[in-house]
Amino acid sequence: MRKNLIAKESPPLKGRITVPGDKSISHRAIIFAALATGETQVTKLLEGEDVLRTIAAFRGMGVEIERLEAGSYRIEGVGLDGLAEPNDVLDMGNSGTAMRLLTGLLASQPFFSVLSGDESLRSRPMGRVVEPLRKMGAKISGRDGGKLAPLVIEGQELIPIEYNSPVASAQVKTAIMLAGLNTAGETSVTEPALSRDHTERMLQAFGAEVQRDGLKVTIDGWPDLVGQKIVVPGDISSAAFPMVAALLVPGSDITIEGVGINPTRTGLLDLLLKMGGQIEQLNPREEGGEPVADLRVRHSQLQAIEVPVDVVPRAIDEFPIFFVAAALADGQTVLRGADELRVKESDRISAMVDGLSRIGVVLGELPDGAMIQGIWERLAGGADVESYSDHRIAMSLSVAGLVSHNPVKVLGCDNINTSFPGYAELMQSLGADIVWGG
Ligand code: S3P
Repeated sequence: MRKNLIAKESPPLKGRITVPGDKSISHRAIIFAALATGETQVTKLLEGEDVLRTIAAFRGMGVEIERLEAGSYRIEGVGLDGLAEPNDVLDMGNSGTAMRLLTGLLASQPFFSVLSGDESLRSRPMGRVVEPLRKMGAKISGRDGGKLAPLVIEGQELIPIEYNSPVASAQVKTAIMLAGLNTAGETSVTEPALSRDHTERMLQAFGAEVQRDGLKVTIDGWPDLVGQKIVVPGDISSAAFPMVAALLVPGSDITIEGVGINPTRTGLLDLLLKMGGQIEQLNPREEGGEPVADLRVRHSQLQAIEVPVDVVPRAIDEFPIFFVAAALADGQTVLRGADELRVKESDRISAMVDGLSRIGVVLGELPDGAMIQGIWERLAGGADVESYSDHRIAMSLSVAGLVSHNPVKVLGCDNINTSFPGYAELMQSLGADIVWGG
């Protein structure tokens, strides 16, 4: 049975919270720990379903991964050549990151493997990683000529390439770098805009030679990766939901502690500040090579903006909740240059246009974005809205319910567990009126 969330007009949100660990960093911590030699200890790891899929995949390839306590793991690295052939299909569930990163890694491993996932993942584009990996000599097949999973990988010795990526995608960049790790020589990727750089940072921390020259990143094959201690920062992509909720619900004043503020991830902060959002970064510090701060957020009347196109890659996961902020801003907000949103866990442009228009917002759908007409005080609400089984659509529409005259029921919220286990309960602890319901 699908689980639904019911969100109602909320009293002011108050309190201090922490959000679960960063999803991108958590996947990478498991992957690099497995490929290093010696022990890695990871704390505050995201125990969402996506990361649990990555853990299960590495266990399936013979890596010892021990859960010490909640969020705390010990991984016994096997080295770049120590993975064992998995004896079953590796099921990546809903996780595009796990699927694409492992495709890169497994292309250069001397064994056979098959990667698959849920219905959403099996409809997402894989050609963007398969095509450059084939240029390296990879043998990968799949549906539609390798554009769609399941993917069948016959691991090979690869040759290094210099790849010019047509998309700013950290998953593409990382897939190629992972293939390059196990390949003699220098492999490089140049992107049209800088995508999140957690791979570069973490690989350097594990001891790899990573050079950056503008938008080009180069990795030297066969580095000696050595086990590390990693503290995963709070996920800014999860913090985005209580953050926007506090900006929108009158009288709110909350603090979200220990949020990762890597500049390749803070596009939403920049947009909300530009709209007049009162967000303060307190106690800035560094944890495990990543910048972190506490974010104090207070209710603010937002102004509509035109989203600068260069911010898009730095805010790519946050547009569903940004749509909700724009729906309560004064004026018309315009987003363009965000066609990547159409190939996420759902088509996030049409999913948000559908959901918000059902609760009284006037939006115009564009091929690469949307025009959103802000409503000053409250949305109408009073409708059932579809999450399209997308965790971020589900959470975004539930936040919209907190500032609606009538309750909003969000249908099919099970996948919130992929990235933000405990979401509804954490929002309740701030005073939000969000409950699980039939
Ligand atoms: C991610 C990269 C982004 C992002 C995804 C996580 C990563 O995808 O949307 O949630 O961890 O590398 P793209 O690389 O497709 O932009």
